[in-house]
Amino acid sequence: MSTSNNSESEKNLKEYWNNVYTNNPKEKLGWFETDLSPMFNLVNQTKLPKEARIINIGAGSTTLIDELINLNYSNLIATDISEIALNNLALRVGKENIKTIVDDLTNPQLLKHIEPVDLWIDRAVLHFFTNPKEQENYFELLSNTVKSNGYVILAQFNTNSAKFCSGLPLFQYDQELLEKQLGSSFTLVDSFNYTYTMPSGDKREYIYTLFKKK
Ligand SMILES: C[S@@+](CC[C@H](N)C(=O)[O-])C[C@H]1O[C@@H](n2cnc3c(N)ncnc32)[C@H](O)[C@@H]1O
Repeated sequence: MSTSNNSESEKNLKEYWNNVYTNNPKEKLGWFETDLSPMFNLVNQTKLPKEARIINIGAGSTTLIDELINLNYSNLIATDISEIALNNLALRVGKENIKTIVDDLTNPQLLKHIEPVDLWIDRAVLHFFTNPKEQENYFELLSNTVKSNGYVILAQFNTNSAKFCSGLPLFQYDQELLEKQLGSSFTLVDSFNYTYTMPSGDKREYIYTLFKKK
């Protein structure tokens, strides 16, 4: 596993997320899902081959990686600020099946240097970046990392959803805002709202979007 250098605030954030993943089984997390159909609706529209280079952003303990492996996708990268989450994930799915990168998306050190990807998937990560500079850094990394003709899936809390998750404030999105943040190099392919049911039974409203890079 590769690891980046830390600033003080990144250390706090890393500690925060490491605690979350140390103290909770994945099935209890407020973002755990068993129904991946909205995500695969978009993944399938890309028609990418099984050897496509796919990065899962802020992967945490997501079962999306298990499912991509089951479907024979063979070039998967999972990145997160929490090495605990990524260690657990790699142990679960088999270290040989994914590459893991520990880095901060808002101040990337290692991710800046990776080979471009065919597909960038982010569910429930971007919306934690409430500060304009963090958002700018995230979108700059995204733009530089996705290949021309590559795809981006962003699934974030929409403007009807909660304003906090896991005790942290959120920045809510809609299709127009995501289009604006991505800029003219990306074309919208599909977009829909989706109501996610948490393990507690509470509902959260997401906007799911698929973009193609020109
Ligand atoms: C709500 S969870 C979503 C996890 C996963 N995408 C899913 O759908 O199950 C948010 C994830 O973002 C990660 N994260 C938060 N801030 C981050 C940052 N600055 N850089 C990288 N990962 C971050 C957390 O560790 C956590 O795994």
